[in-house]
Amino acid sequence: MNSEPARGGKPQNEKEGDKPAVRVALLGCGTVGSEVVRLLHEQSADLTARIGAPLEIVGIAVRRLGRARGGLPVDSGLFTTDALGLVKRDDVDVVVEVVGGIEPARSWLVEALRTGKSVVTANKALLAEDGAALHDAAADGNADLYYEASVAGAIPLLRPLRESLHGDRVTKVTGIVNGTTNFILSSMDATGAGFSEALEEATELGYAEADPTADVEGFDAAAKAAILASLAFHTRVTAADVFREGMTGVTAGDMASAKEMGCTIKLLCIAERGPDEAGVDSVSVRVHPAMIPRSHPLAGVGDAFNAVFVEAEAAGQLMFYGRGAGGTPTASAVLGDIVAAARNRLTGFRAPSESNYAHLPVRPIGAAVTRYHINLDVDDKPGVLAAVAGVFAKHEVSIATVRQSGREEDAKLVIVTHGAPDANLAATVESLSQLDIVRSIASVLRVEGGV
Ligand code: NDP
Ligand code: HSE
Repeated sequence: MNSEPARGGKPQNEKEGDKPAVRVALLGCGTVGSEVVRLLHEQSADLTARIGAPLEIVGIAVRRLGRARGGLPVDSGLFTTDALGLVKRDDVDVVVEVVGGIEPARSWLVEALRTGKSVVTANKALLAEDGAALHDAAADGNADLYYEASVAGAIPLLRPLRESLHGDRVTKVTGIVNGTTNFILSSMDATGAGFSEALEEATELGYAEADPTADVEGFDAAAKAAILASLAFHTRVTAADVFREGMTGVTAGDMASAKEMGCTIKLLCIAERGPDEAGVDSVSVRVHPAMIPRSHPLAGVGDAFNAVFVEAEAAGQLMFYGRGAGGTPTASAVLGDIVAAARNRLTGFRAPSESNYAHLPVRPIGAAVTRYHINLDVDDKPGVLAAVAGVFAKHEVSIATVRQSGREEDAKLVIVTHGAPDANLAATVESLSQLDIVRSIASVLRVEGGV
């Protein structure tokens, strides 16, 4: 990283006696990028005072030069379609990437970092797929890499994990990190609607994208889980390490069943550290819908909000809450990173480098200890309960509660287990499906918190 004050040609807004401007190349000017431009403009005087030098946008890379940009307060001559050319310019200090996707974003950012430029990015997909390429390039170029906006939008979350909690040992991170799916599940909980109906509402209100696959199938949350786990446990975790199950299978019946038990259902990202069966310290990272009691701090997180619950040995329980998406909230996090990077360039400080010294193995989902809520349609005759209990015993799964309801054709058993390796729980469900007395397995959901 350049530890000298900003270099290159003299910026337009430099006055006699002023520090030279810190020059920003913006890659992307869509939902987030346009708000970054607007906030940079509106808060220019405050930002200058906070940094000790002005920020100057020296170029903006976009895909379509002709696209209407709704009166953004920038000179139209700043726009270019040559992002790599912009990154390579000598008069760029900080590269801000709000385009998204793996390539060409990775090539642009690696180029920027290797040549000592500071990088601010909101690109969760890239960080989760190949964060190593960015961190290695940052180390090679002695450059700053900031990415607060990549997880949970406006919520200051990565900086606490990356800095404030570095004196502690984080044991578990449990989060609602996808606003679209939280809106859908909150709506299903409040109105009794099914998944399709709630998705339709989310689309109409502009929460869900035209193609909601990344959200509802858990890909977006899995990328964020990988980033959180890497920071929390000082270990490189990629999206491929994260067990992922989407929430499209959650039915109105599941939600009603959760309600009867004083619970709701959330799409959770869970990253935890602990010994595996052989006693080896390891991590488990997973994304799936789960039933949680209404008393759990995450149960009350409604609408499209995000929240992340962090447990650490010395700090105890911490909760982070706020808007996880949207142009302006996300731009707030991007701006915070730009200010940090700009200050560092003026003072010669550096962002904390990657901490991956722990190299913990990642446990497969089968070895993760989870709990299941199983809803069975069963025959109504003597011995049913004993037969079902026998299956749990065979797979060494302990039953926490059993509830029986209905008669004859409507006979149902609702079973909640104690914690057991997920593989044992899955094998139990498979064996139950083979029993003659089990007419159907109406639903299987994982359970988190003290249900
Ligand atoms: P948008 O699709 O709204 O904007 C993408 C921008 O990138 C557009 O300006 C587009 O140009 C530009 N672009 C696309 N391809 C290229 C290319 N090859 N060369 C140059 N420019 C290109 O995305 P968002 O603003 O929503 O998201 C940006 C990033 O922020 C993503 O990584 C996303 O995951 C992340 N993020 C987004 C959040 C949100 O709420 N939107 C929340 C948190 C993170 P053009 O304008 O010409 O189309
Ligand atoms: N699609 C994401 C969400 C955007 O719904 O939370 C923020 O990453």
